[in-house]
Amino acid sequence: MKRGRQGDGRRLLIGAAVAALAFIQPGGAARAAGPSLQELMKARNLSEADVTAALKTYMPTGRFDDYYLFASGGHGGNIIVIGVPSMRILKYVAVFTPEPWQGFGYGDESDKLIESGYRHGHKLTWADTHHPALSETKGEYDGKYLFIGDKANARIAVVDLEDFVTKQIVQSNIIESNHGGTFVTPNTEYIIETSQYPTPLGGKYVPLDRFDEEYRGAMIFWKFDREKGRIVPEESFAIELPPYSQDLADAGKLVSDGFAFCNSINTERAYGGNLEGRPPMESGYSQNDMDYLHVIDWKKAEQVAKAGKTEMVNGFKVIRLPVAIQEDLLHFIPEPKSPHGVDVSPDGKDIVVAGKLDTHATVYSIDKIKKLIAEKKYEGKDAYGVPILSFQDAMRGQVEIGLGPLHTQFDNKGNAYTSVFIESTVAKWNLKDLKMIEKIPAHYNVGHICAAEGDTVSPDGKYLIMMDKWSLDRFAPVGPLLPQNFQLVDIDAEKLQLLYDMPLPLGEPHYAQMIKADKLKPIEVYKPVGMNPLSGVKDKFAVEGGKERIERQPDGVHVYMTAIRSHFKPDIVRVKEGDTVHLHITNLEQAHDATHGFALDAHNIQLSLEPGEHANVTFVADKPGVFPMYCTEFCSALHLEMAGYFLVEPKEASSAKAAK
Ligand code: CUA
Repeated sequence: MKRGRQGDGRRLLIGAAVAALAFIQPGGAARAAGPSLQELMKARNLSEADVTAALKTYMPTGRFDDYYLFASGGHGGNIIVIGVPSMRILKYVAVFTPEPWQGFGYGDESDKLIESGYRHGHKLTWADTHHPALSETKGEYDGKYLFIGDKANARIAVVDLEDFVTKQIVQSNIIESNHGGTFVTPNTEYIIETSQYPTPLGGKYVPLDRFDEEYRGAMIFWKFDREKGRIVPEESFAIELPPYSQDLADAGKLVSDGFAFCNSINTERAYGGNLEGRPPMESGYSQNDMDYLHVIDWKKAEQVAKAGKTEMVNGFKVIRLPVAIQEDLLHFIPEPKSPHGVDVSPDGKDIVVAGKLDTHATVYSIDKIKKLIAEKKYEGKDAYGVPILSFQDAMRGQVEIGLGPLHTQFDNKGNAYTSVFIESTVAKWNLKDLKMIEKIPAHYNVGHICAAEGDTVSPDGKYLIMMDKWSLDRFAPVGPLLPQNFQLVDIDAEKLQLLYDMPLPLGEPHYAQMIKADKLKPIEVYKPVGMNPLSGVKDKFAVEGGKERIERQPDGVHVYMTAIRSHFKPDIVRVKEGDTVHLHITNLEQAHDATHGFALDAHNIQLSLEPGEHANVTFVADKPGVFPMYCTEFCSALHLEMAGYFLVEPKEASSAKAAK
């Protein structure tokens, strides 16, 4: 299939915009039959700005978008893939939660994958996906893998961008929630996950009055094996942190490579108790004028972990806080009030922190930080003995941003963009001289923002997404629960221009990353036929055409089935009440998009069999009856005929028959 025109898409669009705007001038170019553009604009009440915006986002049929946007699905527990600039939804990727279309959580291997994320022996069918992180090589997105964290249950997942399928879910079992995750180091050596709400490490019970002594945070470094495409828990480690409610994190790059940074929002060590005579969390967390930016030397920490200076906590390797201090792994720098975002500039020199309760973006200099650390120039220590560097000495400067600044992204012209939550704007400012340039209104309560490759060593400029938390008055009413709103902004235009509002009606997408479309090379079909996407190899139960069969074995009835337009073979399966049934189904197709589904009535079974894919599902046929099975993808003109019967013969009938 022909790939859409990509790189030149933008130039074409601008050309089209110019042509169209010329067209709408009085006495412009010759008009086509039907209403003129002017008449259309009048009829639809559109301004010239509206028309330019439309021309900058419109994708004619068959044309592909220039960028992929990977957004977390929030409490949908998934990832949303969106084309930019059209803002067309391309896919939902099931991650932590069952998803019927993809058959995720309805077959043996995906069931096992979801179960691997169960915690404390509890079945979990939801997650709160927050920060997606594309894999990087030398600080550039490489389009190979995508990682995502589950804030609610402190888990991390790995998605392979070859087929957009979740391959692995890991959990440290030492923390209970995360927020500063996922962020990758510049060569994806590690995936960073930082705890949010302090708890006793390892999941044991400790009363709240032991908060200062026994509650802790942690920054976890998950080792990634790029060859295998999997996290290696045995080679991963954590650094124990004081119970300061660590917030967002980022990895250093170029000159700051080797460092990781994270905020903390609760150096007060408040833990609520508004029914017990203590201040509520929100005021307890907001007493101090300064919290602590954490500066962590992960390259040194890696050596410390390798040297075995760790303790196993609930099966996970932890560098204890006193060791981290002794080994010079952890330093604090004061940061203004209740910070949220920490973002490293493309050249790696600046670390930008914005505080929810402070009107500035504070820019720290890695050169200054390194010097202070090397000279051991501390202005004091915190209650746990962590050395504190001077705010004034580590800072390069501050920019007055507005009320409630949060997150910062970058473009290719030396500009930074900071979301301003309370004010509902995005501020564009110059990184070099820390001068405010321009603000664009957001509608409204903008949280994260995402610029094209805007957190890499070479941002693209072009587009920025404002991820708005509230959307009232923007879309047709749909009852009290409203979607989120992604607003697409042209940041290459002379003046920032809002192009498009997109409702996101499934969870609260929290953060997103935008990657050039031509960096991704997804496969079209699974090869060889019989491939199991979750194991990555040809399945041992893969079925060849002509070798379909039903076998009764000691562990139950094995059904070796194939799917091809437009039948399942066998299309009649007979088992006996109480039998354990193992369905092994291979889609023999190798044609692009020739997906078959497999649904079985009343057994909660729905598989998606992409071309070449093999899937297994095991269940007990515990109720006698006649159960239709059918294909759930409209695969051909005879799709409705792609069906069969699954018959469960009653016990009595079979024993009566046997007695005869
Ligand atoms: Cu196969 Cu419909």
